[in-house]
Amino acid sequence: MAKKKVAILTGGGDCPGLNAVIRAATLKLVKAGYEMVGVGHGWRGLMENEYIPLDSDSTAGILSQGGTILGTSRTNPMKEEGGVELLVDNLRQNEIWATIAIGGDDTLGVANQLHGKYDLNMVGVPKTIDNDLSGTDYTFGFDTAVQIATEAIDRLHTTAASHDRTIVVEIMGRHTGWITVMAGIAGGADAIMLPEFDISVAEVCDILRRSREQGRNYNIVAVSEGARLITREGEEQMVTQSDEVDAFGNVKLGGVANLLAKEIERRTGFETRATVLGHIQRGGTPTAHDRVLATRYGVKVADMLQAEEWGMMAALKGDEIVSVPLEVAVGERKLVRQEFWDLAQTFFA
Ligand code: F6P
Repeated sequence: MAKKKVAILTGGGDCPGLNAVIRAATLKLVKAGYEMVGVGHGWRGLMENEYIPLDSDSTAGILSQGGTILGTSRTNPMKEEGGVELLVDNLRQNEIWATIAIGGDDTLGVANQLHGKYDLNMVGVPKTIDNDLSGTDYTFGFDTAVQIATEAIDRLHTTAASHDRTIVVEIMGRHTGWITVMAGIAGGADAIMLPEFDISVAEVCDILRRSREQGRNYNIVAVSEGARLITREGEEQMVTQSDEVDAFGNVKLGGVANLLAKEIERRTGFETRATVLGHIQRGGTPTAHDRVLATRYGVKVADMLQAEEWGMMAALKGDEIVSVPLEVAVGERKLVRQEFWDLAQTFFA
């Protein structure tokens, strides 16, 4: 009997740990007698028939590699004319029995629709440095991003101290402040700005002034790229790089640190600089924690596939790896909880 063919794809922004999932799922399923095929560049690869054979040889040595050996894209087949029909046709013609989609809310949203509306055999794995997916306590990639941002803040402390400066560091996370709040706390930032909890520029300046009065000669401000800049009552803005949106309607955030740094310097007189961490937070090798989490997800999704748990996603609940409906994951953004904001504020001067 011919082996059942399983496709695996990575969609959306890359993150450290994607290769660890690909390796774990491939090794487990090949051992169980399935044929594995990687899809190049996310959903686009399924529309364009871009396939990469996967086995123990092609996945050797990738556990510690950042990025994704499959490539990724933000292509949304639902938004392409005839995109879904083409994709469904290609799956049938290539005799692909089931698909593992590794992605964030956009990629998993497509998997959920392909399962719900077109009855395709889909299972998912939650990835994103942003950690904003519901249904799972943590996504892989997040821990690595927090580690990178924390190390950056550590470095900014020493140069800020040498020059008696305030440094504003802009951290990714889209519309959630998970990376910022964790790295901000871990790195001892003097003030933290998140999309979930408003704090005005005036309040931030007061914190910095108090800190200087208490004897500090420099400050670090950690700001989420999606935090609202509130310059005066009723005047707030989310800073974007352009008016463009991607195929999933996402705006391109970025630039808040520069504007904030100028405002802080103008209002306080403290010499202020801005540092934008950008894609450095998504690159490079995953932490040991992310490698283990990604490996657990990869093995779990292989088990789910064998059990034919279609429309489900591997998830972390406490310390258990479980499966939850994709619908839960893509339903609502997981926001930073009040508890973490309270913790962060405890250390504001
Ligand atoms: O979702 C992950 C993420 O890195 C966000 O934190 C960020 O806003 C966005 O992707 C950047 O996207 P791109 O790689 O398309 O510039």
